[in-house]
Order: sequence, then structure tokens, then C-alpha cells
Amino acid sequence: MLVDSFQRRITYLRLSVTDRCDLRCTYCMPERMKFLPKSEVLDLEELQRLALAFIARGVTKIRLTGGEPLVRRDMIDLVRALGRRIGDGLEELTLTTNGTQLAQYADALARAGVRRVNVSLDTIDRERFAALSRRDALPQVMEGIAAAKAAGLKVKLNTVALKGANEEELPDLIAWAHGQGHDVTLIEVMPLGEVDGDRIDQYLPLTAVRDRLERQWTLTPSDHRTGGPARYFDIAETSGRLGLISPLTENFCAGCNRLRVTTTGQLYPCLGGGERVDLRAALREDPGDTALDAALDRALAIKPERHAFRIDRRGETPAQPRTMSVTGG
Ligand code: GTP
Ligand code: 5AD
Ligand code: SF4
Repeated sequence: MLVDSFQRRITYLRLSVTDRCDLRCTYCMPERMKFLPKSEVLDLEELQRLALAFIARGVTKIRLTGGEPLVRRDMIDLVRALGRRIGDGLEELTLTTNGTQLAQYADALARAGVRRVNVSLDTIDRERFAALSRRDALPQVMEGIAAAKAAGLKVKLNTVALKGANEEELPDLIAWAHGQGHDVTLIEVMPLGEVDGDRIDQYLPLTAVRDRLERQWTLTPSDHRTGGPARYFDIAETSGRLGLISPLTENFCAGCNRLRVTTTGQLYPCLGGGERVDLRAALREDPGDTALDAALDRALAIKPERHAFRIDRRGETPAQPRTMSVTGG
């Protein structure tokens, strides 16, 4: 079992499989992002060993993240290998993807035992998409979302709420998604890694978004749970579900059930700061799992009670030096 010093039971592992991405979302990374050398990144065997060690300690849900997980060539091999553990300790295997390659992989993911995917989609306007992600890839993403649905995967859309960017479009995006049968989760932008602009110019508190949505729609709190940080609402008029992930305006850390491992095997007990534990060193120094188990115990002991995210003008509060693309969210 994995239980931290605040008696929170850890059942959810977020495992980042690559820091690379084929998009360059402005809130996530700079245009001239420098990616890690491949030698730094955990190989397939190490990822499997790690995942199995977490399952042995009571993790029931694994989410593969990135960067963009589907740009890693052997990603589908990892999904197939872990998929064999579904029903045998593992209850859910899933991923968070930008959708650009989903059309190619949706069937294979479904066959490997994946039941739902989270797809990042901040806008359904092609020009805005190209401006926000610095790549003209909306048609591929839409194709990917449709392919996932056709393959029988449940799709949840992740939309980072961005001041002056997709702010006005959010009701249309939500209505479109609900019309397609997809849940949507809105996310407050978090200060992780340096980006080209200033985050305070991007930050849109979800309290304000919710007030605005409630002027046009009826939102009723839902008891739907996914084991992630979102709080869900049913919208009567669209017959769909809306999740809100509000780390800045509404702290959800008391219910935290998660740990995250970066592309290089660094375990961050909390997304929003604090120390890390080097699982790659433990994996490489000890072919048995004794060192790894000790490292997991250390991570539990240092997991902070809550994150230290704050959004201020650049320089006033430095962002976490880690980027989202290495940490995996
Ligand atoms: P579900 O299984 O559908 O609940 O997914 P999820 O919300 O756990 O995962 P997803 O990868 O879709 O993440 C959505 C957003 O939540 C991303 O911006 C993540 O960085 C953020 N997130 C996930 N876990 C945490 C957390 O523990 N703390 C904070 N602050 N943000 C988190
Ligand atoms: N703040 C909040 N969400 C972010 N994401 C990426 N960077 C950030 C950030 N700085 C989102 C992506 C994806 C999810 C894993 O995290 O859009 O949907
Ligand atoms: Fe858990 Fe840290 Fe996320 Fe809070 S911010 S929910 S403590 S990982």
C-alpha cells in the first residue's frame, strides 16, 4: 500500500513517457523548446518495471502522459504490456493526448484494453488553434477524436481556460463537445516551466468562467468521479458533463490520490512543488526492487500537504522550473 503522511492513499500513477511533442502550446512550452537527449529518458523495460512496482504497491489506475505520449514510437508496446494487467491489480489504463495521432492509434488502444482517453482541445477554431498551439493541426485532432469515438473509447476533452484567447469561445466549445457526447474539463493554467509570455496574462480563474456559464445554463453538482482532480457538474441544457480543475481558486489537495513520474524517472510527489525522488537511479542500481521500494517510501514521506502554485507577474513568483511536458501534469 502507498499511504502518505497525511493518510492519503495513493492509487493513481501518472507516468510521463516522453517530453517531446508535435505541438508547441503557448502555455506549455516555448517555441524553441529543447528536448531531453534520449539517453536521459526511461526505456520501455524501465517503464514497465516501474509500472509493475506501483501496481504491486496498490496503484489501480495508470495514466500515460507526456509531452505527447503517442509520439513515442514504442508507446503502443507499453500500452499492450500494461493492458495485460487490467483486471489483475490494474483497474484502469489510460492516456492524455493532444489527439494529433489518435486516428492512427485509436483501434490499437481500444484493443489493448484502454476504455477512455483525455484529449487536449483548447479551441475548435482552426486559426485560433494554430495560434495557441503554433501548429495548424486542428483537422488531425478532430479526426483523432472522431476515430477514438468510433473505436468505442470514451473521450474527455481537456480545455485550459485562457484569458483573451479561448475565453469567449468556451460556451460554444462545451456545447459542441456535449453534442458529440464528450465530457469537457476546464483547467486553470498553472505556472510550470518558463513560457514565452507572462502567465498572468493567460490566467483565467474558473470561478469567473463558472459565473458566466451559469448565466446561460443550469449547472448542478454531479457525483460523477474519475479519480482525478476535477469536480463535475451536469448541464441541463446541453445534457452533458462539465469538469472544473481549479488548483488556484479551489484547492483539491486534501483528496489527492496521485503521484507522477517524469520522463527521466523522477518522482514528484506533488505537481506544485517540493522535492523529488530519483526512481531511475533506484531502478538502475538494483535489479531487484528493494531500492525502488525504499524510494517509494521516501516519496510518500515527503509528499506535501498541498501545492505552492501562485500566479503573479513574472519575476515576482518564479514558475516551477520543471515544464509540464517533462512532468506530465
Ligand atoms: P481523469 O482520470 O479523467 O480524472 O483525468 P485527470 O484529470 O486526472 O488527468 P488529465 O491528464 O486529463 O489532467 C487534467 C489536468 O489536471 C492537467 O492540467 C493536469 O496537470 C491536472 N492535474 C492532474 N493531477 C493533478 C494534481 O494532482 N494537481 C494539480 N494541481 N493538477 C493536476
Ligand atoms: N497549466 C494547466 N494545464 C496545462 N496543460 C499543459 N500545460 C498546462 C499548464 N501550464 C494541460 C494540457 C493537457 C493536460 C495534461 O495539461 O492541455 O490537457
Ligand atoms: Fe496532490 Fe499536489 Fe496535485 Fe495538490 S497539487 S492535488 S497535493 S499533486
